[in-house]
Amino acid sequence: MNLIFLGPPGAGKGTQAKRIETLHGIPQISTGDMLRAEAQAGTALGQQVRAIMDLGGLVSDEILIAMLGERVDRPDCARGFILDGFPRTTVQAEALDAMLASRRSRIDAVLLLLVDEAALTERIAGRYTCARCGTGYHDHYKQPRVPGVCDVCGSHEFTRRADDRRETVVTRLDAYRQDTAPILPFYRAKGLVHDIDGMADIDTVSRAIDHALAQAKAAGTVTES
Ligand code: AP5
Repeated sequence: MNLIFLGPPGAGKGTQAKRIETLHGIPQISTGDMLRAEAQAGTALGQQVRAIMDLGGLVSDEILIAMLGERVDRPDCARGFILDGFPRTTVQAEALDAMLASRRSRIDAVLLLLVDEAALTERIAGRYTCARCGTGYHDHYKQPRVPGVCDVCGSHEFTRRADDRRETVVTRLDAYRQDTAPILPFYRAKGLVHDIDGMADIDTVSRAIDHALAQAKAAGTVTES
């Protein structure tokens, strides 16, 4: 099962993709996480992309397409994958289609998280993650069960993303409107898009996604791995 999560910054793509990863045993592929890992490691690529990301712009299609092609060929993707943050431009969407067709594969469903943009800044500004295992939290909407202790690995260290400043969120939203939203007709024409109300609470959004996937499976458009 090959899935795409689409939606603006802060829509909940990562939150829901991680849950589907655990539920279905297929990997979440977050291109944002991959780029941040490169930047953190100080690789040549990481140095090249860090400034772009910190300002909220998009990294080049060429870099992203090469990175994704290498990632989906890894053995853990044999039963499928969940894309979170890719594709983000029409060029990326078309390249993904061609890449999968050459591997006799395809996208099974696109889960579009519909959100009120006014709420996104608050969601993003309140977000933080465990520094050790990457589990995501929020100051108001998703706090650890024991304050200051990660639910998953017990770490006491948390980090906030450099691009989660309010002024950068504006640029990221502009990039979504200008470059990413235009790819929706491409997937709608294929009948793959499931509209999900991303403004509901996290558990309600999860249930809506499960319902959409069950419907797609019943209709034969999603083949469960
Ligand atoms: P990326 O890491 O992909 O960031 P993004 O798309 O901006 O998305 P976010 O991670 O900010 O949000 P999300 O939708 O995953 O929300 P989350 O679940 O965390 O990309 C970062 C940068 O990398 C880009 O700006 C670009 O520079 C570069 N890049 C990456 N991919 C690229 C590509 N393909 N091409 C070019 N450049 C690329 O949720 C947010 C918060 O809200 C969390 O705290 C969460 O707990 C909370 N929350 C989630 N759901 C709910 C809910 N239903 N109710 C209340 N709170 C909620």
